[in-house]
Amino acid sequence: MRHFLSLLDFSTDELLALVARARELKSLRGTAAHPRPLSGQSVAVIFEKPSTRTRVSFEVAIHELGGQPLILSKNDTQLSRGEPAEDTARVLGRYVHQIVARTYAHETLEKLARFSGRPVTNALSDRSHPCQILADLMTVQERFGPLEGLKLAWVGDGNNMAYSFIEAAMRLPFDLALACPEGYRPDEALLDRAKREGARVTLTTVPAEAAKGARVVMTDVFASMGQESEAARRREAFRGFTVDQALLGEADPRAIVLHCLPAHRGEEISAEVLEGPQSAVFDQAENRLHTQKAVLELLQREA
Ligand code: CP
Ligand code: NVA
Repeated sequence: MRHFLSLLDFSTDELLALVARARELKSLRGTAAHPRPLSGQSVAVIFEKPSTRTRVSFEVAIHELGGQPLILSKNDTQLSRGEPAEDTARVLGRYVHQIVARTYAHETLEKLARFSGRPVTNALSDRSHPCQILADLMTVQERFGPLEGLKLAWVGDGNNMAYSFIEAAMRLPFDLALACPEGYRPDEALLDRAKREGARVTLTTVPAEAAKGARVVMTDVFASMGQESEAARRREAFRGFTVDQALLGEADPRAIVLHCLPAHRGEEISAEVLEGPQSAVFDQAENRLHTQKAVLELLQREA
């Protein structure tokens, strides 16, 4: 049984094949040749946290693959009243063919995977956000072709997005330069492992250093979902980490800017950059649809 809880669940070849397949599915969208591998199947999509892109892109992806999406928001299930994930998983496994879930604790995803007997996809946890990174890599490939030798800069919080980018760098041949403030560094154990395994990952506290010569400049909110009470303290700690025109000036002149959205203009990114000609954020958001179709299709095939 394959799951997609982490980018490390797939090999280098599989990740590249997923992105290639997503590009193919993008070109087939709306044609009679678009596949319907989920025909007659149902997929539960569980949300412990809010979502716009993930919710809608999964719902549309499942529908266009011929399946029935069941969107289960925070208060729709007994999970919100304390039913153990182990029980929920075993029950859902009797009804649906795949499960997609956005959770606080990453362990909840692991329980869903262990107990449901169905393929489970991580639609974001406090630890990681692999679906987003697949769409980001597709966007980079669409603009620049093969990833070999490209420098990608991550400026901001060492959060779930940064975690998944480090995992991506462990599988794919790009350089990842992270700039995070002291106290907001990415997971040390993962970083050490990535370096031991030869991933080209560097970490600095100086945003301009990470952005220098980068082909892609990426950021995300300073306070993630669940960290709302830390927002003021984080705004202070992240002073100087805004992706603005001056920082973008350090990057390669051909650089694109990525942000998984939702964005806070004037905090982690300036309005000028987000709305500017180098911003690829809406292509990036669209590509969630295509990459998730490729994931659902692969998990269905290998279930
Ligand atoms: N980027 C992303 O996952 O957005 P949502 O929180 O809207 O799903
Ligand atoms: N790091 C953000 C990503 C949102 C898509 C969060 O977890 O809230």
